[in-house]
Amino acid sequence: MNETQLTKLIDELEAGHTLTETQWIRLIEGQTEDVQAYAASKAVAVRERIYGRAVYTRGLIEFSNYCRNDCYYCGIRLSNRGAERYRLSEDEILDCAASGYELGFRTFVLQSGEDMYFTDDRMEHIIRRIKEDFNDCAVTLSIGERSRESYLRFREAGADRYLLRHETADESHYGTLHPKEMSYEHRMYCLKTLKETGYQVGCGFMVGSPGQSAATLAKDMKFIEELQPDMVGIGPFIPHHGTPFSGEPQGSVSQTLYLLSLLRLLKPNLLLPATTALGTIDPRGREKGILSGANVVMPNLSPTTVRKKYELYDNKICTGDEAAECRGCLEMRMKSIGYFTVTDRGDPKKE
Ligand code: 5AD
Ligand code: FES
Repeated sequence: MNETQLTKLIDELEAGHTLTETQWIRLIEGQTEDVQAYAASKAVAVRERIYGRAVYTRGLIEFSNYCRNDCYYCGIRLSNRGAERYRLSEDEILDCAASGYELGFRTFVLQSGEDMYFTDDRMEHIIRRIKEDFNDCAVTLSIGERSRESYLRFREAGADRYLLRHETADESHYGTLHPKEMSYEHRMYCLKTLKETGYQVGCGFMVGSPGQSAATLAKDMKFIEELQPDMVGIGPFIPHHGTPFSGEPQGSVSQTLYLLSLLRLLKPNLLLPATTALGTIDPRGREKGILSGANVVMPNLSPTTVRKKYELYDNKICTGDEAAECRGCLEMRMKSIGYFTVTDRGDPKKE
């Protein structure tokens, strides 16, 4: 396809028409600097129509890096003996939330590996305490695959949102990123269950993961169209030295930005974070993410003593900074591009 045909596809997407899987493949394969710039300008206009220049912030609390899974890409995988494991106590988690609250955050993301020390009882207790102490805050969970019963209990305890990246919507690709104990089918079941249980749901994938292609990305787009998530987290794949994928090439900044723009056009009111991974491989990655259509940033509230240990990939940024520094830094970065951060709950807006 030539650039005129590609920009036509982008116009169709903007007009709310659905693209076929083949059209998605053409659009993804056809990325050039001009096409990317065209998509970004459309995406920014759409984002500004709905969210203005406000960038939502969410305080991220990485409370445990123990994980029962062995995903080939991830630095905290079970088999990585080099990972120094830690787990915050309930009181430490509450302290993080309290200092985040002081800084103005009204939404917390509790993220961890799949650590079964945090049983349903323990999780429920933590969620209830946060919701009691800070009743004007939204709580987001990002703790992986659990049973329907667990998802229901957390929801009843007050959790509002759940992030579970689908990683890839191509079953055989999924099989090459994960050991056989993990199944594509179960991941999909979890996402469907989370939707049914009334959470605001986030899915997502890494850009440039080994084995990814325009064809698998096209499936991701069709999957997102079908699931209708509230949020989609994407960031470049970055190799971690202690994993089977240590020698694989990292994902590209420009493809990540292009996909952010296309996602914004696919679903105008989507919550789209400019991720830490994007900021890790490009010093202005998060700013570029916002300028491509993203509208969320997630500063880290974890205690600095454990920051470095939550290392999903090499050279992760922000590991030495206090919560207040991270917040200030992002505020300044957003200001530098004419945007401003907001700390309210940051629910999706109607189109
Ligand atoms: N590079 C980039 N992102 C990664 N994730 C895990 N490992 C890596 C890596 N090496 C992402 C996965 C996971 C999320 C928490 O972080 O998509 O779902
Ligand atoms: Fe953490 Fe910049 S956002 S130091």
